[in-house]
Amino acid sequence: MMKLKKILYVLLSVFLCFALFAGCADRKTDPEPSPAPSPEPSPSPEPETPDKTVYTMDNIRQYVVGVDEPVELSDGSMQPLINFDNAATTPALQPVMDAVNEELKMYGSIGRGFSQKSNHSTDVYLETRDTVLNFLGADPDYYTCFYVNNTTDGLNKLASALVESEDDLVLCTRIEHHANDLSWRERCHVIYAEVDEQGRIIYDDIERLLKENEGKVKYVCVTAASNVTGYVTDVHRIAKMAHEHGAKIVVDGAQIVAHRKFSMKGDTPEENIDFFVFSAHKMYSPYGGGAVIGPWEILNEHMPEFYGGGIVKIVRDEAVKYKNAPDVYEAGSPNYPGVVGLGKAIEVLEEVGFDKISAHEQVLIRRMIDGLKKLDGVIIYGDTEDISDRVGVVTFNFADINSYVLAKKLTDTNGVATRRGAFCAHPYVWRMMGISDEEAASFENCIDMNTPGMIRVSFGIYNTEEEVDRFLQILESVLEESKAATKLNAEAVPEY
Ligand SMILES: Cc1ncc(COP(=O)(O)O)c(C=O)c1O
Repeated sequence: MMKLKKILYVLLSVFLCFALFAGCADRKTDPEPSPAPSPEPSPSPEPETPDKTVYTMDNIRQYVVGVDEPVELSDGSMQPLINFDNAATTPALQPVMDAVNEELKMYGSIGRGFSQKSNHSTDVYLETRDTVLNFLGADPDYYTCFYVNNTTDGLNKLASALVESEDDLVLCTRIEHHANDLSWRERCHVIYAEVDEQGRIIYDDIERLLKENEGKVKYVCVTAASNVTGYVTDVHRIAKMAHEHGAKIVVDGAQIVAHRKFSMKGDTPEENIDFFVFSAHKMYSPYGGGAVIGPWEILNEHMPEFYGGGIVKIVRDEAVKYKNAPDVYEAGSPNYPGVVGLGKAIEVLEEVGFDKISAHEQVLIRRMIDGLKKLDGVIIYGDTEDISDRVGVVTFNFADINSYVLAKKLTDTNGVATRRGAFCAHPYVWRMMGISDEEAASFENCIDMNTPGMIRVSFGIYNTEEEVDRFLQILESVLEESKAATKLNAEAVPEY
């Protein structure tokens, strides 16, 4: 009996297994899809956000457009250059370029069109004004900003608006770039504060001139940082002096914006800056563009000599009614890529951090100066001991070597980008080189490679200590050749 039970049990198990297998097989080949199992509630997918890159001193070099792009040297070989010409202009940053390219998809006319793109572009254009004001610590209730092509354009527009008569008196300094000298010199009467032997502005001379011309100086125009020596000016101290004597201060910010944190605000209201002008191409956004920051009230009392569309409320046969600032300072269609690039450049530089940028620059300047000092016959301009008030600019010469010959050799044979000459700051450069005004007058009719000048190296945030070392090695290696070429050149003067 037990045996029979066992057999029945085995048969039943085999049958059940077979039935189960057959069922599964059926279902597998079932042409009708079985209803999907009711889905388990699953978390909704994360919205896709692109990786947010954080820009730092350590990674910024990889975001500099073209930093490894080879250039052709005189022997036909190709290699990336060492770019030490950042005071002239800076290369683009990749995020700046990306932001411009992205925004161009939604590009439409600014403040003029009826379209979604036009509305979007107008919003970005207007919002960037806030970015600029915020970047410079400018209270939007007191200051506005208008966009310009560059610092030169900004200073000329400002001067054309502020100068009311050629008898107006403006105080400049002998450290100024031509943009902050000629813009005033060609429109009114300018007096100049001197620089000392090291090339620093003499603050007491500003005070003296203000006192001697009590109440008459309308504007004190001074650079925030020199493009020749890199000296940073204490513009808040000068603001206080200017205000005490009834003047306003205009600051040329071209060389400070990519190097140090700048604020319109001083420690006291008297130390506040009235006007500030800068270029975007010197801060990694080479799309043109820049801005002038100034008080609403003063800008609204004036307008630049620059006329056209976009600045008027109404034009009649017999009369024109102009808009207020900032619009009245922005005749014509604006440079949208310039504005977008500027906004993004500000964002990236702030993310990297000006304290870090400045500290890095100090290391590069120190290393460069110390390395130069080891080379025979070197002449370094400016203070080489205390460099704390210098941004990343070092200028030098070598006794018995034509600076043009040397700079050209550095470029042609080794792909080193420097600048050579008097850097659009002639009166300052002549002073630093010990050249009198009379002597400078003798160059007037023959500007060529023998016209005195300096070699300038200037650093960007992406330059490295290794590049400084490599530069110094290259420099040393071409000194003898350059000396010989200088001798030959003294007889035959090719075209500049
Ligand atoms: C101190 C200073 N001011 C003004 C300018 C003029 O700037 P931009 O050529 O952008 O108009 C420069 C340019 O090198 C400069 O270094």
